[in-house]
Amino acid sequence: MKIGIIGQGYVGLTISAFAAESYVVTGFDVNPQIVDDLNKGVSHIEGVESANLKKILKSGSYFATTKESDLADSDIVVIAVPTPLGPDRAPDLQFIESACKTIGSVIRHPVLIINESTSFPGTLRNFIKPAIEKSSPSIVEHMYAISPERVDPGRSNFDQKNTPRLYSGLTPEASAKTREFYSRFCDNLIEVSSPEVAEAAKLFENTFRQVNIALVNEFAQITHALGISVYETLDAANTKPYGFMKFTPSAGVGGHCIPVDPTYLAAVAEEHGAPATFIRRANEVNLEMSEYIIGRVAADNGGNLQGKAVLVVGVAYKPNVADVRETAAELVIQHLRSQGAVVSWHDDVVSTWKGESSAPLNGADITVVVTKHDSVDGRKILASAPYVFDTTGKVKGAKGL
Ligand SMILES: NC(=O)c1ccc[n+]([C@@H]2O[C@H](COP(=O)([O-])OP(=O)(O)OC[C@H]3O[C@@H](n4cnc5c(N)ncnc54)[C@H](O)[C@@H]3O)[C@@H](O)[C@H]2O)c1
Repeated sequence: MKIGIIGQGYVGLTISAFAAESYVVTGFDVNPQIVDDLNKGVSHIEGVESANLKKILKSGSYFATTKESDLADSDIVVIAVPTPLGPDRAPDLQFIESACKTIGSVIRHPVLIINESTSFPGTLRNFIKPAIEKSSPSIVEHMYAISPERVDPGRSNFDQKNTPRLYSGLTPEASAKTREFYSRFCDNLIEVSSPEVAEAAKLFENTFRQVNIALVNEFAQITHALGISVYETLDAANTKPYGFMKFTPSAGVGGHCIPVDPTYLAAVAEEHGAPATFIRRANEVNLEMSEYIIGRVAADNGGNLQGKAVLVVGVAYKPNVADVRETAAELVIQHLRSQGAVVSWHDDVVSTWKGESSAPLNGADITVVVTKHDSVDGRKILASAPYVFDTTGKVKGAKGL
């Protein structure tokens, strides 16, 4: 069985590596640099080791390509391309659309097409299927299914094998074939009654996180105003054995999922005349966190950051990954610079970002910790400046939320 996987990023490459244990996989990506590196056995994401990549390359069960025609003899095609927000912060399906054009133009026999990219309910039925049909020079009766991806890069206790996976096809046959495909490398497959349920469930999972993170971020501001510790209060609430789930405050949310997916849900809700009040407000609270934090830092430092050397520690959006997409560090740095601070950043996992390089972890007037990787010693962070503000709750002895 030949599997074509469109997009070789966090999701597509992870799936490729697992699928290549059982199938022959063609990893298609439009980025020639990524494809070159992959064919040399160099992985660009956490969770897929270069050694594993070399193994599947050597066995002949995987290769990467930028040539659309290499997908032509696939039996199954998986779509794993970005679904970002456009400049107007509305869902932007341009990458899915171009993946559909690729499929339509090169695949001339009926195959199973599975979408793993996150999007709003109705995307498979009303966007992907028509887009592929429109780009096919002749009528081809493909099967269509959705199986939203739940991979959490950097997490070691859950992977493709033991993370339960939702799926649903547009037809019973598509559902059955989708189950058969994933059952080789996923232990727990859960069929739902329609693709729309699977699509909506994925969006709600991340919306649940976004809203709860916003709630705890607002709560951190309340506890500070009350003069009590947010961490002690959360630990106290967490002694309740049911009906409570602990989230911790932060400088905001980042990555491709949590800042983006809820907006897909809000957009489709509003299009259908349903309210998305919580979702919209949660997004605002998380975006406002950086301003609140810099306000606290300024207040502790005489109300003025003009000319102060400020070191931001951790620019990745979460610990132990190099991913900087939608990172809260960007807004933190923007607010600091708008107040006249001289900002550098330290992050050994990211190393270079926006044309700047990671600075040494010392010599600052003020340090603001946005993300703490396990590899960074908390004592070194504490020694990096006379004033350290920690938004993670992990640096003992620092000021914080
Ligand atoms: N990263 C995660 O943790 C995660 C988790 C669950 C779901 N998702 C969802 O999965 C989808 C993919 O996310 P990702 O993190 O893998 O993105 P990514 O940016 O890491 O990778 C996407 C890849 O697709 C390539 N690409 C773009 N357009 C293409 C096209 N037309 N043809 C071929 N390749 C193309 C890009 O070059 C890139 O390498 C998104 O919808 C995302 O929301 C991501």
